[in-house]
Amino acid sequence: MDSRESIHLADSYYMNTFSRFPIVFEYGKGCTLYDAEDKAYTDFLAGIAVNTLGYDHPALTGTIEEQCHKLLHCSNLFYTKSQSKLAHMLVEHSCADRVFFANSGAEANEGAIKLARMFFYKKGMHKYEIITACNSFHGRTLATLAATGQKKYHIPLSPLPSGFISVPFNDIGAIESAITDETCAIMIEPIQGEGGIIEAERKYITALHRLCEKHDILLIFDEIQTGIGRTGKLFAYEHYGIEPHILTLAKGLGGGVPIGAVLAKKEVAEAFEPGDHGTTFGGNALACSAGIAVLNTLMEEKLIEECAIKGDHFKMKLNSLKDSFPHIVKDVRGMGLMLGAQLHDGIKGGDVVKAALDMGFIINCTGDNTLRFVPPLIISIDEIDRLISVLETIFNDI
Ligand SMILES: Cc1ncc(COP(=O)(O)O)c(C=O)c1O
Repeated sequence: MDSRESIHLADSYYMNTFSRFPIVFEYGKGCTLYDAEDKAYTDFLAGIAVNTLGYDHPALTGTIEEQCHKLLHCSNLFYTKSQSKLAHMLVEHSCADRVFFANSGAEANEGAIKLARMFFYKKGMHKYEIITACNSFHGRTLATLAATGQKKYHIPLSPLPSGFISVPFNDIGAIESAITDETCAIMIEPIQGEGGIIEAERKYITALHRLCEKHDILLIFDEIQTGIGRTGKLFAYEHYGIEPHILTLAKGLGGGVPIGAVLAKKEVAEAFEPGDHGTTFGGNALACSAGIAVLNTLMEEKLIEECAIKGDHFKMKLNSLKDSFPHIVKDVRGMGLMLGAQLHDGIKGGDVVKAALDMGFIINCTGDNTLRFVPPLIISIDEIDRLISVLETIFNDI
């Protein structure tokens, strides 16, 4: 089947939920994807912050292959070695004491929402309301859309589940005034990803943490995009010197194999008892083996430390671009290898993405006209510098 036929079939039979580029990818190696005509693209999107170890990393493919021959899946009515091991590894390396595995980010957040409500229910308290931030993104299920602080997603699907309220990000006063006797949790992304790479300020997170303690509210960190080394620490909460009660992960955890996770402190996690929550596929042997390979490789190859160093270099280069093209680049934001360059109004981010693609580089544009860079954590300084030159050429043409 050639590319035209693949595109024709998808356009004819796949639901029209994505605006796609007319490219069919066949395989990848390192940080490079190859299309059906063997054109190479250096990937600064990584399946939207998913392919932590890039493509065809022997540690990941080798582990998956081995696991395939042993066991793909058995029900959660039994134990598997890989699920037990991955749960142990995540607890060992985080502030959490217990883990539940899901299949995606939205599902992990659904689990977190249910856990927060169940925690207070089991204490005999009627606390159910969840405060989130405007411009946030927490997923596409009905409850996680209700949590997502972007009205455009709510309107066609109303009524959404109730009990969610969004207030301006980085505004502690707004959170304080939204707290009621019914508030059970505050859910926040440490860096808003889909919203345009917007970092939570340190003083905001510290104050949030204090507010949660004062009002007996759970703090949920949605680390679906920031987790698993992306910001230069294994988890982004580590940058802020606080510990959330609940933490959600997905994207980078399986390196491309779908898996999500809800991590929680023991006293919170204990609210879940048999029958309260579940999943058929979540935490299956294959997905967990991928998670183990990703975590082991991150540690063994010191990729998280490197992510911080490469991220600093990348950000410095983006800031130089901003200095050279102040009429094009408005702001540079982010941490580690989760970076964004906001463009001025009137400069079309989509055109920059398209021009980069034509020159063999995959980036994307999100939030308020912000170019987003979330490459595999194995990206090299040379690849970063080559992207910077490409952006320089594109900006010169503008
Ligand atoms: C912060 C955050 N939460 C949740 C999600 C939803 O994850 P998924 O698409 O795996 O359901 C995303 C996806 O972009 C995200 O960035």
